[in-house]
Amino acid sequence: MIFSPPAPGRPGRIVVRQPDDWHVHLRDGVGMRNAAAATARAFARALVMPNLRPPVTTTAAAQAYRGRILAALPASTSFVPLMTLYLTDDTSPAEISAARASGIVLAVKYYPAGATTNSASGVTRIGHVYSALAAMEAHGMVLSVHGEVTDADVDIFDRERVFVDTVLARLVRDFPALKVVLEHISTEEAAAFVLAAGPHVAATITPQHLLYARNALLAGGIRPHLYCLPILKRERHRQALLRAATSGDPKFFLGTDSAPHARQMKESDCGCAGCFSGHAAVELYVEAFEAAGALDRFEAFGNAFGADFYGVPRNVGTITLASQEWMVPASYPFGDESVIPLRAGEAMRWKLIDGQEPGK
Ligand code: NCD
Ligand code: ZN
Repeated sequence: MIFSPPAPGRPGRIVVRQPDDWHVHLRDGVGMRNAAAATARAFARALVMPNLRPPVTTTAAAQAYRGRILAALPASTSFVPLMTLYLTDDTSPAEISAARASGIVLAVKYYPAGATTNSASGVTRIGHVYSALAAMEAHGMVLSVHGEVTDADVDIFDRERVFVDTVLARLVRDFPALKVVLEHISTEEAAAFVLAAGPHVAATITPQHLLYARNALLAGGIRPHLYCLPILKRERHRQALLRAATSGDPKFFLGTDSAPHARQMKESDCGCAGCFSGHAAVELYVEAFEAAGALDRFEAFGNAFGADFYGVPRNVGTITLASQEWMVPASYPFGDESVIPLRAGEAMRWKLIDGQEPGK
């Protein structure tokens, strides 16, 4: 990273090697163009989640989805979508082998059935997917985990912790060589589990979990656009996640979980889970790292650790950000509708000034 402090008439700048987003929802259909353009603006590659309707359960479906994403971007784009398969009770070891052989599928996503948006086809009992997990372990394929139990009697703020203590602990014990990413961690306990586990267990951390605690969601009025799963937790968890992200430990890396929903799907009497951060993801992370006094740790978090874990080369290009205030628009287009972004109508401290502008 190169940091140039502000000088008279010129804002401060940082130049960092281009990051990847190791967890994003680009959706399908008309909104996909907007979601993909936002991500391709700053990131070289992104691991695209498979929770479409119907879910991406086969390599053939992942190939087709990858083609639709690329077709929605300008032909000149250098952005690379990396694909995932959606694990179901019926995923066969043969499908895992086919996914591995395709070269385009990097991970298999485990949603406990009913845990989050479009997870109805997910895994009903971990025992049902043991043959698929054994195949993944044998092929060195990554399991991306949505780590929340779904039991109605477990409090929503405890669902990640209980998942870690029960399901994840068992999974890591039964498949000691399986590469596992605990996605979008939201608790001190999850960070501690990942840190204590072997080198094949890692975690992604989102900008919203680094910047906001649950008071931002619930105190002084309910903010549906800050509602995501896992739900934001107490301030002490946010502090623990900031420590993990800025620790320089390669187990923790960038994954935005940018998950756009049309405005009316969020502002409803039963609103969807998911925050849209793609419009300013890098800027939001840089702000969080700067506030923690760890700007110099951002580059490896975004560029190195995820690539190393997934076994792909690190990006060598760079992006440039200026310490230049700008206002996030109140909304962005999302297909025929609109999406309310993180920080809507509020100021940002950093601005990407040299990335892959959509349409460039
Ligand atoms: C995601 C979505 O909308 O697809 N929502 C969310 O709250 N994070 C699904 C997910 O990653 O859980
Ligand atoms: Zn997600």
